[in-house]
Amino acid sequence: MLIFRNKKKLQTYLNEIPRNENIIGFVPTMGSLHEGHLQLIKESTKECTITICSIFINPTQFNNEEDLKNYPRNTEKDINILNKTTDCNIVYYPEISDLYKKNEKAHYYNFNGLDKSMEGIYRPNHFNGVATVLEKFFRIINPNIAFFGEKDLQQLQIVKKLVTLLNMPIKIVGVPTKRDKNGIAMSSRNNFLNNHQIQEALQLYASLQYCKDNKTNTIKTLRSHIISKFEKNAMIKLEYIEFVDFETLRPIKKIKPSPCKNAICIAAYIGDVRLIDNIIL
Ligand code: PAF
Repeated sequence: MLIFRNKKKLQTYLNEIPRNENIIGFVPTMGSLHEGHLQLIKESTKECTITICSIFINPTQFNNEEDLKNYPRNTEKDINILNKTTDCNIVYYPEISDLYKKNEKAHYYNFNGLDKSMEGIYRPNHFNGVATVLEKFFRIINPNIAFFGEKDLQQLQIVKKLVTLLNMPIKIVGVPTKRDKNGIAMSSRNNFLNNHQIQEALQLYASLQYCKDNKTNTIKTLRSHIISKFEKNAMIKLEYIEFVDFETLRPIKKIKPSPCKNAICIAAYIGDVRLIDNIIL
């Protein structure tokens, strides 16, 4: 596995690769790799001849300095995991200065409303920051396929929109959420939960599962039930639960049967730790 810290060197290397004989897969991450990331790498190595994983904690997507400062950093361990347990070919692990000019801020993109609900409300400008760094990565790497977890469903749909806006022929693949044996969605932020909080975090998936199991009820009834469950527990705070169309992310009035694809998205605080999850119906 090759490690690059410099975009010029990475590009020089990639320019030597015959593009018509290879499929380049890209898995962007912010490190602290867990099973969810490894699943993305697995999908990429299955479909592509070369897999590139980036490890970069992107400052422009954090709307809170403390959150950025506290974000888990485990790069040595991450590189070791990639090297020993995956078929990843290249790791790109840049310094901030390799990607950003001094004082450069997030660029602005028009996602046609996809960024105006859920995470977009609670994390203003977050998706502009995500898109800014992804545009940089896409231009450096020029992958054929890029892989994203469905856990960040809003991000996934926004990235699909981004490649259309940029007119870049990159296939964006969503990979189903990886969960631990109790159902908690894998997330780097789970590292911050103590044993007691892990038990509380089960409430997120339990809520989604409850809605799925009772999907013939009205959305109003389901939402009230979930809100009242959260209100009874002082250790957790519900931020939102939204019933949306899987692709447009617009609120739905009714959970429609297949082939319609709906999603229920949830965000909640367990102590100071903010977690998101969703279920696709
Ligand atoms: O999902 C993430 O970890 C990040 O938002 C991403 C896609 C790596 C961009 O920084």
